[in-house]
Amino acid sequence: MTPTRLVKLQIDANQVALPMIKSTAGADGIDISKLKASTGLVTMDPGFANTGSCVSSISLVDGDKGILRYRGYDIEELAAHCSFVEVAYLLIRGNLPNQQELHTWSERLNKHSLIHEDMKSFFNRYPPNAHPMSILSAMVTSLASFYPHIMQGDPNFDTTAARLIAKVRTIAAFSYKKSQGDPVVYPRQDLPYCANFLNMMFDSPVKSYVIVPEVIAALNQLLILHADHEQNCSTSAVRLVASSGANLYASIAAGISALWGPLHGGANQAVIEMLTSIQTNGGDVHHVIERAKDKTDPFRLMGFGHAVYKSYDPRAKITKQLCDTLLPKLNVHDPLLEIALELEQAALRDDYFVERKLYPNVDFYSGILYRAMGIPTNMLTVMFAIGRLPGWIAHWKEATESKDQKIWRPRQIYIGPTRQKFVAIDKR
Ligand code: CMC
Repeated sequence: MTPTRLVKLQIDANQVALPMIKSTAGADGIDISKLKASTGLVTMDPGFANTGSCVSSISLVDGDKGILRYRGYDIEELAAHCSFVEVAYLLIRGNLPNQQELHTWSERLNKHSLIHEDMKSFFNRYPPNAHPMSILSAMVTSLASFYPHIMQGDPNFDTTAARLIAKVRTIAAFSYKKSQGDPVVYPRQDLPYCANFLNMMFDSPVKSYVIVPEVIAALNQLLILHADHEQNCSTSAVRLVASSGANLYASIAAGISALWGPLHGGANQAVIEMLTSIQTNGGDVHHVIERAKDKTDPFRLMGFGHAVYKSYDPRAKITKQLCDTLLPKLNVHDPLLEIALELEQAALRDDYFVERKLYPNVDFYSGILYRAMGIPTNMLTVMFAIGRLPGWIAHWKEATESKDQKIWRPRQIYIGPTRQKFVAIDKR
């Protein structure tokens, strides 16, 4: 990074010159890394909402214009023309694969999709109502024990990445089958990524799963929409853990845990629960809108608002359109879709949401699509995790290969007692 300009910071009578870092798109940055050494001061930015934690060339979000690009490609084009497997390659390797590269990458994913039989027994130890996100994060951490070489520096990163992408899909499907008390279905070498996943989820000894091309196309699109989103909470968690030198699988397990929260990836489950409760309570969307506006009520309109988008989330546009085509194709009439459409209209007419620029985000309509495919509500955040995985891997790789990588260790502004006199309690 060569600084191009300087920014002057006036602190009382003293002036400090801070170098600026130029971006290729989006905000430029002010490098404050030497501020403490030169002034004794630290900066304060709760939630790091105005802090760049790294330089990155993986994805770009323009929140005002509603733009999302992976490696410079518009999300709309990738979703329309690519498979999830191609986009995973793009994010991790930096370029779209040619036919041969795609073939090799797909073969690698197929080859590594089984999980160790000893790991299979882990599923039996969870209670039947265990949340699949807790299983997923534990299983991904466990993978590091089955492939210990990754802890000593990885000679073949592509294989390690492919192994993780392939196995996470298998783990997700196995956890669903176990929750149903059904025998697991093993991955099939002849099926591509998304079809293979749905087959593992829904094929059974009593009823064969019938692959519907429109469902496969929609699943590819959904996973592409989830695949990366700059320095969001879970990706930052991955990069933070990676900064200590932790291996890929341990770092990704941290990302899965961060994603689980309802303000992040857990919002897709929360949206379906919110829509279901509106339905159960007679379908009045206005009651929910009033609750979301009430500052004495912690309730928020789930699937609405975004830390970066202050316009319509481009991913939500695509999922909304997909609802229009996929549900009729599958002959699915989901009353939750009608409630969602009504809720969106009511919110977008309300000054509270207009003034704060709160629009539907990626999680508002995605759950309805997953439901139409038969995926249960408690698996929705797992679907987000499967989609986000290539992004996390790409960020782990970028971070660990960067010559600027340092252990992440933010400062604080201490507001506790300065020094207290210690008086021992009488322990006799
Ligand atoms: N319902 C009601 N009010 C909201 C909502 C909402 N969903 N989102 C933001 N606000 C209000 C918030 O109360 C605040 O009001 P005020 O200015 O009066 O204090 C204002 O809008 C700004 O909100 P904020 O909390 O500063 O916004 P943020 O950028 O910190 O939060 C968010 C972003 C996504 C956490 C938040 O919008 C939210 O909680 N949304 C619901 C959960 C959700 O759908 N999360 C999924 C996000 S997209 C998937 C992903 O990438 O994670």
